Amino acid sequence: MFEPREALVILGVGASAGLALGSRSAGTTYGIEPVRLRPTITSLHLVMPTPGSTQSFDSPAGTLDIKDSRTAKTYSLPIAADAIRASDLKKIKTDAPDDLGIVSYDPAFLNTASCRSAITFIDGDKGILRYRGYPIEQLAEKASFLEVAWLLRHGELPTQKEYDQFVHDITYHTYVHENMRTFLHGFRYDAHPMSMLQSSIAALSSFYPEARAIFDPAQRDISFIRLLAKTPTIAAFSYRHVKGLPVVYPDNSLSYVENFLSMIARMTEPRYEANPVFVRALEVLFILHADHEQNCSTNAVRAVGSSHVDPFSAVSAGVAALFGPLHGGANEQVLRMIEEIGDVANVPKFIEGVKGGSGRLMGFGHRVYKSYDPRAKIVKRLADDVFKITGVDRGLEIALELERIALQDEYFVSRKLYPNVDFYTGLIYRSMNFPTEFFTVLFAIARMSGWLSQWEEMLLDKEQKIARPRQIYTGYEERPYTPTIKTHLSK
Ligand code: ACO
Repeated sequence: MFEPREALVILGVGASAGLALGSRSAGTTYGIEPVRLRPTITSLHLVMPTPGSTQSFDSPAGTLDIKDSRTAKTYSLPIAADAIRASDLKKIKTDAPDDLGIVSYDPAFLNTASCRSAITFIDGDKGILRYRGYPIEQLAEKASFLEVAWLLRHGELPTQKEYDQFVHDITYHTYVHENMRTFLHGFRYDAHPMSMLQSSIAALSSFYPEARAIFDPAQRDISFIRLLAKTPTIAAFSYRHVKGLPVVYPDNSLSYVENFLSMIARMTEPRYEANPVFVRALEVLFILHADHEQNCSTNAVRAVGSSHVDPFSAVSAGVAALFGPLHGGANEQVLRMIEEIGDVANVPKFIEGVKGGSGRLMGFGHRVYKSYDPRAKIVKRLADDVFKITGVDRGLEIALELERIALQDEYFVSRKLYPNVDFYTGLIYRSMNFPTEFFTVLFAIARMSGWLSQWEEMLLDKEQKIARPRQIYTGYEERPYTPTIKTHLSK
């Protein structure tokens, strides 16, 4: 519990200061009320030169004036791009010699911008997602995944020459060292493919020690290419291992997605020919999952990368974070939930259980999107295309009923819980015959492009340092050690 002992009164914002934004009467609630001078935004974006986004703290848009009731002192904190610098709060302190100043307390980063980023813009209230300014709907309809991967990293769409070279480089780096194959054989037959992927990506760092030269642009280039090229190979090798099938080596005559499907599904045929609807569906799903600004796994990559470790190690932390059921693992959990519900007639009871606290409606809700997830709309359309080929997935009826009930139920409406990207992706993947455990691996292949772009942006950002949050200590004061057990050190 965060119980304030004293009040910090925000006096005003900007030149029109004097606007009383909140105060606390003794013993009652914490009195800082929301600042309403600007529309709410969920991402501080730099890509378009709008006044809010390019402002620096050296030439702020205004000030936030704060009065500390403990000392009666007032402070002016510069505001730029709708933010104050949390480190400016350090100035606010009492005369006590051990007072290090005020910290901002924000578990789970609900309202903390950890960086300036020009990569992805999200407006959660309006359901907008853009990569480098381009709407996700347009990219999903017209772009290729590798084009999007290039865009994310470089900030602009590639020229034809750049694109052709990039595709060539990716194609010719898809092979992994044979030791990677034997490494994967060390896993048990029922190993989760996300565990295999995470450890293999981390293991790649031992094959490319030169990648530790992270400030050499040539090393960053080749690491980007290697990781994008080899992740589908590792993913496919894990799939074949779990199935007890021999691995299929990459085929350089195929596109990125076709080659991946070939490594997954080829049997005795000399050349694998994937269904073009599946190829396009997977390509679109890769585009939708390529980046999503400061989500849990990207934050993990940035935080681990901030120690200046090599990119293979940094992105393996991203794979670990993505594995969790509240993040990328949700697509797997949606399918398990649908299996558990079993029949459309059981949906109302299941929803009642969720409302009663028995669990979450997986694939619903999002930290940022509070109206709808624009990716979910595209995925739903994509599902129609795929189901035309495969026949309607048996879980679709249950999913549609879950969505129908939840969208009109007060519990979900009042909490602004809508289907997220993962609500329907699992059904598409299952109808394409991917095993449930494999769904998050598909997400990871796509997100690799975003993780690496964000990692590089972090690395080259002069304002960044090793990520190291503060804490509010709640434990014991100093106490003497008195042994309570006998150990080999006891006399
Ligand atoms: N089902 C039921 N209730 C929910 C759900 C859900 N899916 N999501 C949130 N709630 C409820 C919470 O219980 C809470 O209710 P309360 O105010 O009565 O306590 C309220 O809504 C707010 O929830 P928070 O956990 O505070 O929301 P937060 O923004 O922290 O969480 C998250 C977002 C993790 C995505 C959450 O909505 C969730 O767990 N969803 C299910 C898992 C999922 O689909 N994850 C995939 C996200 S997309 C992605 O990562 C690619």
